[in-house]
Amino acid sequence: MASKPESKRWHEILHERMRFKTVRDFSHKQLYKRLPPHTGWVHVFGSVALLMFFSQFVTGILLLLYYRPTLKEAHESIQYITGEVPFGWLFRQIHAWGATVMMLAVVLHMVRTYFMASFKRPRELTWALGVLLFVVTLVFGFTGYLLPWNQLSYWATTVGTEVVGAVPFVGEQLKEVVLGAPAVGQETLSRFFVVHVAVLPWIIVLLVAAHLILMRVHNLATLEDVGAEKPFPPESGVPFWPVHMAKEACVAAIILGLLLTLSVFSPWEIGEPADPLKTPEGIKPEWYFLPTYQLLKYFSGPLGKFLGILVSGVPFILLLVWPLLDRTTARHPRKRPVSFWLGMIAIILAVFFGLLGHFSETTMNIGGMRVHFDMYGVPHVLEAEAAAPAGGEAGESEAPHGGPSSQTSGAPASGHG
Ligand code: HEM
Repeated sequence: MASKPESKRWHEILHERMRFKTVRDFSHKQLYKRLPPHTGWVHVFGSVALLMFFSQFVTGILLLLYYRPTLKEAHESIQYITGEVPFGWLFRQIHAWGATVMMLAVVLHMVRTYFMASFKRPRELTWALGVLLFVVTLVFGFTGYLLPWNQLSYWATTVGTEVVGAVPFVGEQLKEVVLGAPAVGQETLSRFFVVHVAVLPWIIVLLVAAHLILMRVHNLATLEDVGAEKPFPPESGVPFWPVHMAKEACVAAIILGLLLTLSVFSPWEIGEPADPLKTPEGIKPEWYFLPTYQLLKYFSGPLGKFLGILVSGVPFILLLVWPLLDRTTARHPRKRPVSFWLGMIAIILAVFFGLLGHFSETTMNIGGMRVHFDMYGVPHVLEAEAAAPAGGEAGESEAPHGGPSSQTSGAPASGHG
C-alpha cells in the first residue's frame, strides 16, 4: 500500500528538479512512434552503423589505455595489448573488424536510401549529413590505419597522402598540413592519432545527432511520390518498439556473433614494425579505398593527376548535391529507371575497380596457369616453366595485402588501429 504513493513522490521530486515527466513522455513518444507500413529489414542498416560506432567507441577507449602514439612505442604497445593485456587481443580484433563492418553498414544504408529515394524533399539535409558521415567514416579508417605503425600502415599512408599532394594548386601545402613534415613520421602519427581519437569522435557524434533528429522529425520516407504522401492510419504503421527494435536486435546479435567469430578465427596480425628504408611490394589500402586507389593509377603526369583527383573527387560532390540534381517526384525504384540504372552502374564500377585494385600486382594459379595481374589489373599468363608446383599455391597472391592473417600470402601482415 505504501509503495505506490512513495514512487509517485519520487516522480514528483525528480520532475520538480529536472522535468522528469517531460523527459519520460518524450522518450515514451519516441519509443512507440509508428514507422511507415513498408518499414522492414532493409531499414536496419542505419542502426547497424550506429551500433558499430558504439562498439568502436568502447573498444577504442579500452585500446587507448595501453596504446602509445610514438614511433618507438606504437608498434610495441600494440604487441603488448595483444600479448599481455587480459582480453586486449579481443578488443583490438573487434576494433579492427568493427571498422570494416561499420563501413559496410554505412555503404548498405546509403545504397538503401538512394534506391528508395529517401533523400527527396523534405529529407535533402538528412541525406547531406549522411554523405558527411560517410566521409567521416572513411577518414576514421584512414587515420586509424597508421596507428599500429607497421610496414603496411606506414607505406599505405605514404601512398595515400601522395594523392593529397596531387590536389590542384594547394596539393603540396595540404600534404604538409596532413603529414606535419615532408614525409610520414612522428608528426604524422601524432596528427593522425589526435584526429582519430579526439577530433572525429566529436564530429561524428554531432553529425549523427543532427541526422537522427531530422530522421525523427520527418519520420521514415514512404515509397509514395513527393507531395502525394498520405498520412498512414496509425494502426497500419510499424511500432518502433517492439516490432522494429526486435528486428534491429536480431541483426545486432548476428553482427556481434560475426564480429566475435572473425576476431577468433581470422585475426588481424600486427605485422612488421614500419621501416621507411624498406618498401614492400604491392602496397594496398583497405577495401573501401581500393576503387579510388585503382582509378588514380590510370592517370599520370601533372595533368593526369589533376584529372585523377577530379574523377575520384567528383563522385563525393555528386553524392552531396544529388537531391538537387534528381528533382523528379517519383520515389519507387520502378518509376525512376534512369536513377536506378545510374545507381547500378556506379555500384558495378566501384566493385569492378575495387576488384582490379585487389588483384593488381598479384600472381595467381588459375586452372593450372600462372597468371600475373599488372598494376592496371591486366592479366598476363606467365611462362609454363615458371608455374608453381601442382597443389602448391593455388589462388595465392604474391603481393602483400591488408587484412586478417587468414589471407594467403607470405606478405608482411597488416594491423589496424
Ligand atoms: C555513421 C553513419 C550513419 C548512421 C549512424 C546513420 C543512422 C541512420 C538511422 C538509424 C536511420 C533510420 C532509418 C534507417 O536505418 O534506414 C537513418 C536514416 C537516414 N539516413 Fe542515415 N546514417 C548514417 C549514414 C548515412 C549516409 C552515409 C547516408 C546517405 C548518404 C544516410 C542517409 C539517410 C537518409 C536519407 C535517411 C532517411 C531514411 C528514410 O527516411 O527512409 N545516412 N540514418
